[in-house]
Amino acid sequence: MQYSQLTNRINGEGAAAWDLHEEAVLAAEAGDDVIILSVGDPDFTTPDAITQSAIKALQAGDTHYQMVTGRPELRQIIASQFQRPDMPALNADNVMLFAGAQNALFAASLCLLNAGDQVLALDPMYVTYEATLCATGAELIAVAQSAEGGFRFDAQACQRAITPKTKAILITNPNNPTGVMMSKDEIQGVCDLAIAHDLWVIADEVYGQLVFEGEHLSIAHQPGMFERTVTLNSLSKSYAMTGWRLGWAIAPAALIEHFTNLGLCMLYGLPGFIQAAGITALEESQAASEVIRTTFKRRRDLVFDALSGNAHIPVLKPQAGMFIMMDVRALGMNGFEFASALYRATGVAVLDAGAFGKAAYGWVRISYTVDDSVLLEACARIRQFIDQNQRVSA
Ligand SMILES: Cc1ncc(COP(=O)(O)O)c(C=O)c1O
Repeated sequence: MQYSQLTNRINGEGAAAWDLHEEAVLAAEAGDDVIILSVGDPDFTTPDAITQSAIKALQAGDTHYQMVTGRPELRQIIASQFQRPDMPALNADNVMLFAGAQNALFAASLCLLNAGDQVLALDPMYVTYEATLCATGAELIAVAQSAEGGFRFDAQACQRAITPKTKAILITNPNNPTGVMMSKDEIQGVCDLAIAHDLWVIADEVYGQLVFEGEHLSIAHQPGMFERTVTLNSLSKSYAMTGWRLGWAIAPAALIEHFTNLGLCMLYGLPGFIQAAGITALEESQAASEVIRTTFKRRRDLVFDALSGNAHIPVLKPQAGMFIMMDVRALGMNGFEFASALYRATGVAVLDAGAFGKAAYGWVRISYTVDDSVLLEACARIRQFIDQNQRVSA
């Protein structure tokens, strides 16, 4: 039987990066001594008040079809929390709910891109981007943010990558896997290019609430940017709600209308009890979200302190998020070889950061999504593995 050409475009390399992770998950389920630091799923359970409001809604019969765009009350809360004084006035018509930021990105791709368009995405980038953008027939142009430059935005490289076919720039701020948060100047660099070349900006901000140092700046808040920006966010990371699938896009109302038409034929709205939980999260659970943020900050410091002592194996201190990057090239291994050998020798599963793009070849991404004692044990095993392999390669 024949399948559509789309099936080839969504069959990206990203999938292979997860093989080792899946092996480790199976081993953990079988009771083996493994520590899984390869996934971006917070280990916390969702704050109880949020779960209780979903249960209450379910018991009250909140089990019916919903508005395709989402409940006006929740969309209004999202709009109000995103509002800044010096930008166009936002309301519920600027927000559409999706089943996670991932689903929102897919919708943005379908509503903004034509086959043959080019989208610039900053490399390294989240593994699903290629398939998501290319599903439309558009071409992803990876713009390297080099390891040597600290994986930071390179405006000149971005400028050089622009062609008459360029339709949009996708930025991830803060970034996964690097944890780098864009500075005001870097954001301005993206704004200048987008305005000069009349481009859309798709801004993935799912780690925007998990920031440890500095201020997170949303590009849509910058002058002249709201009308050309789609901002994606969700409750997944900041409220430990990955499995609830509650995300959204904030955009000009005209684009939200197109999303609504797409939603009608794609998702037909999120469950009401999930939306009820979302309202409780955003209105009443910010203290619980703050506990999640400070816990990740403590763990970030703990892993950084434990792994940063080796001058040959640099570790990049993330400004945000739940991952830390380590450069293993001095061991004569690439990220995949390191991750495989580390897992076989110690049972610690980390992710080959090369899966996130060429700019991160030779690096691994380590999640700090387990509690402190497990994290310290994992770091001790990683250090010992590095010591042994440094001796071998010396
Ligand atoms: C950068 C980035 N964007 C989007 C997502 C997907 O998030 P959601 O659960 O909201 O779909 C992730 C999840 O890991 C991510 O790291």
